[in-house]
Amino acid sequence: MAATIDRAKRKVMLALSFASVALIYSLMLLGVYVTTSHQGLSCPDWPLCPNGFGIPAEKYLFEQIHRLVAVIAAATVGTTAAYAIKNVKNVSKTAIIAAAVISIQIGLGALIVFTKLNALIVATHLSTGVLLLAMALVTLLSAYRIRPEVKPAQ
Ligand code: HEM
Repeated sequence: MAATIDRAKRKVMLALSFASVALIYSLMLLGVYVTTSHQGLSCPDWPLCPNGFGIPAEKYLFEQIHRLVAVIAAATVGTTAAYAIKNVKNVSKTAIIAAAVISIQIGLGALIVFTKLNALIVATHLSTGVLLLAMALVTLLSAYRIRPEVKPAQ
């Protein structure tokens, strides 16, 4: 029998997993833009750029936005996994994998900066980004496939 879930919980799960997919997709767009416009070393420090929490200088604007969105995405992906573990067990496996992969991805981002764009690490960062997007997308589709419970008429 197909799994069912409380309507409100399904809505929250869909909203969280959609937000994760949208944030990861935006990150990949930003990341490839940073790479192809040769701005990968525009911000030489880690985790913050030289201006700290201030308004980013034009020089490393995209690099700083890439990092900022990464933090927001990590929080969203982590919340999605926590919500799935507690309320939507059927989708929790891929949600947990996504949460683990995003932590690795942040570590790889740091390594890119420390190694000054080591080609192998940049390539791994791209592939891991694809894996992360896949896990978030499967979580979203799995949540979508769960039917909302129909309350019996009183
Ligand atoms: C957490 C989610 C993240 C995702 C999904 C992501 C994704 C990507 C992608 C797809 C690229 C393009 C790679 C290529 O074109 O080969 C990229 C580039 C880059 N990312 Fe990330 N990234 C993430 C986090 C981070 C973090 C936290 C940092 C921290 C410094 C970072 C630093 C970089 C840098 C420096 C580049 C440019 C590399 C170059 O110029 O060759 N990324 N990212």
